[in-house]
Amino acid sequence: NERTFSILKPDATRRNITGAVNAVIEAAGLRIVGQRRIRMTREQAEKFYEVHKERPFFGELVEFMTSGPVVVQVLEGENAVAKYREVMGATNPAQAADGTIRKQFAESVGENTVHGSDSADNAKLEIAQFFTDADIAA
Ligand code: GTP
Ligand code: MG
Repeated sequence: NERTFSILKPDATRRNITGAVNAVIEAAGLRIVGQRRIRMTREQAEKFYEVHKERPFFGELVEFMTSGPVVVQVLEGENAVAKYREVMGATNPAQAADGTIRKQFAESVGENTVHGSDSADNAKLEIAQFFTDADIAA
């Protein structure tokens, strides 16, 4: 069983749809084995999105991710990384497939409701940024 790291972004907490998003996650067979609601600091957001720091939207991305509470999660299941990417849908909600979280809920490419790790290695690194073993119960 694989784990992936998920964030319900500030547009999700602002619109009070975290339960609706979690229902889609669980219906897909992923188990939420760790979950915490936090306000990301600028330092945390800059570190988390460091790979994007040369991109033109980096400043906007950090502003957005610190603009309100987020829910950080550890999801577990068979092929959790790939499965969650599928459930999230394309980065741009206009291109996301029917039934995906971003198709149903996302407002724009910037405010796209969820983050999910893009590889098992990154999942481990991202989980370690926000969770200790004691905060995960499978
Ligand atoms: P994450 O799961 O959040 O990493 O999304 P992703 O893997 O589908 O996309 P990617 O890693 O390429 O980009 C990371 C995040 O940057 C996206 O989820 C968006 O929130 C944001 N982003 C990407 N492209 C743009 C853009 O053109 N404008 C803005 N404002 N944000 C963008
Ligand atoms: Mg990404």
